[in-house]
Amino acid sequence: METSRRRFLLTSGVAAAGLAIGGRGQVRHSSSPAVPRFRLPLAVPPVLQPVRVEGINDYYEIDQRETRVEVLPGKRTAIWGYQGIMPGPTIRVRRGRKAVIHHFNKLSVPTVVHLHGGSTPADSDGFPTDLVMPGQSKIYVYPNEHAAATLWYHDHAMDQTGHNLFMGLAGLYIVEDEDEQNLPLPRGAYDVPLILQDRRFTPDGSLQYLPDPVSGAMTDTLLVNGVPWPRFEVSARRYRFRILNACNAKSFRLGLSSGEFFVQIATDGGLLSAPRKVKEIPLAMAERVEVLVDFSSHPVGTQLFLKDSTERSEGLLRFDIVRKERDDSAVPARLADVQEIPAERAARLRTLVFTRGSSEGPDARWAINGRQFDADRPIVAPRFDDIEVWRILNHTFGEPHTILHPVHLHLVNFQILERNGGPPLAHETGWKDTVALMTGEEIRLIARFGGYHGRYLLHCHNLEHEDRGMMARFDVV
Ligand code: C2O
Ligand code: CU
Ligand code: CU
Repeated sequence: METSRRRFLLTSGVAAAGLAIGGRGQVRHSSSPAVPRFRLPLAVPPVLQPVRVEGINDYYEIDQRETRVEVLPGKRTAIWGYQGIMPGPTIRVRRGRKAVIHHFNKLSVPTVVHLHGGSTPADSDGFPTDLVMPGQSKIYVYPNEHAAATLWYHDHAMDQTGHNLFMGLAGLYIVEDEDEQNLPLPRGAYDVPLILQDRRFTPDGSLQYLPDPVSGAMTDTLLVNGVPWPRFEVSARRYRFRILNACNAKSFRLGLSSGEFFVQIATDGGLLSAPRKVKEIPLAMAERVEVLVDFSSHPVGTQLFLKDSTERSEGLLRFDIVRKERDDSAVPARLADVQEIPAERAARLRTLVFTRGSSEGPDARWAINGRQFDADRPIVAPRFDDIEVWRILNHTFGEPHTILHPVHLHLVNFQILERNGGPPLAHETGWKDTVALMTGEEIRLIARFGGYHGRYLLHCHNLEHEDRGMMARFDVV
């Protein structure tokens, strides 16, 4: 472990001040500089503009580069960002228009970009060994045949995904379409992304990546859109929030401090058929949820928190209701036409078991069906356009007693048929690409393996598990 940790420290290009490796390979760490909560204003990542538009193609260029930015007040933090910012710029595309994105690797490490939630040709999907070397570039092509949804793009480099995301390589990717645009949902300044991330810093403000092999990155500072515990000034009207859990290894249980319901309108894969009220939303790593929150029942001057009930803190974000405002948005009774994938048409049933790998302790590894990631061998190979049911089990027993594996499939969106023999949870019916399983849990999902032929991935989205073997290649043949 020492060697690999030293290697990453050396390759990371950032100082690791405040970090000392103790005698038994244990890492001592310092806590992050204190940040006053709910003082800094929420930022919203800028929308990336195409460099050229031609026919149905929108051409973009992105530099992956190291910059020093102010995350903590008065400190400079070296980050690796798409366009030098953390999170990266938001890419907003229109269904049916092709995005051609030229990524330039100006970092000191190999990188590869994946569009999470996208149905992407295999050569643009970001297979972990399709590395782009420092000084090189690659053009990724996204056909955007997906219905309106909140996706995200992030690094996927072999064994280094956890580190590279921690350094900042992640951003939002929003697909819009006409049907969704015709709905009376809040838009413009009232359609707000909330990208949840967690970090740890050294006393001088450098990022401090401490990957525990079992629980994942150890952190103590919560960022929303790159700002620690921000406050957000809102009008007393309805908002749409697109919430992404972009943490390496932290999951949330989101709620509002007022006890109000969220009106959930979308999951990972886009709009629900109809809105539904949910009081608490568990949000595991890589999952997205879109909600409407109506602040109009509160008087100006009210403060409200977006809470995480897995923690005993006030909240992640404070909403300050500062003004009245006219609101012409509405909650539509119907949102989209979500067709159920017919289970009786499934060509086969497969079982995938998520377990510990061979070793324990600091060398812990993770496995799927007893195998660690092998880039050369697919674990399963669905036939093109076949419908399949996958039974997924979290069989990670031992210490600690419960371990979360958010299981993610590339290429396809799926529907959850069953969770532990019963129906899926309230917030997870609809199109999904990531599903959270705690120790002992079992789900059945259904998907159609269409779109493209080739080499794809399934993996745990605890990035430290992913980097330690809990990933498999699947081929569509
Ligand atoms: Cu969000 Cu394979 O990843
Ligand atoms: Cu993905
Ligand atoms: Cu896991």
